[in-house]
Amino acid sequence: MNRGLIHLLVACCASGSATAIAADTPESLLAAYVAQAGAPASPERGQKLFTTNFGKDYNGCVDCHTASPAKDGKDLLTDKRIAPLAPAANKARFTDKHKVEMAFNMNCRDVVGRKCTAGEKADVMSWLISLKP
Ligand code: HEC
Repeated sequence: MNRGLIHLLVACCASGSATAIAADTPESLLAAYVAQAGAPASPERGQKLFTTNFGKDYNGCVDCHTASPAKDGKDLLTDKRIAPLAPAANKARFTDKHKVEMAFNMNCRDVVGRKCTAGEKADVMSWLISLKP
């Protein structure tokens, strides 16, 4: 291997761009949660979780994302518009594993009162993926 090529490889992969090359997709992230859960995802269960009031800080995910998350939501705290969660209506959704994990962790804690399981994340994602704009 010549020096130039080695230099190129180091420049590429030392700069942390490895994740940018292997971009996450809604399908790949869903598949990972399903594998982790060891069971198929259920859109019906996902919709139920999303629309359930667990009696914690919020009346549910729907407080900010509405019960139709293929449409805009509104942040109850800041009054700011939230773009749709359904990937069919918003291409940016579920393309960054870290963002998705952070969103689930924070929102499940506030809304459900605990972390969501891999199975629950798979359920919610499978429902969101099934929605049409
Ligand atoms: C207090 C308001 C609020 C509540 C309640 C809420 N969210 Fe969110 N959610 C947000 C905001 C704000 C963002 C980040 C803004 C954005 O990405 O457009 C976000 C982002 C997300 C994302 C990011 C997806 C991505 O890839 O960009 C997911 C998934 C999500 N929320 C799921 C949920 C689920 C599931 C619940 C219920 C357990 C929930 N949210 C409850 C406000 C809320």
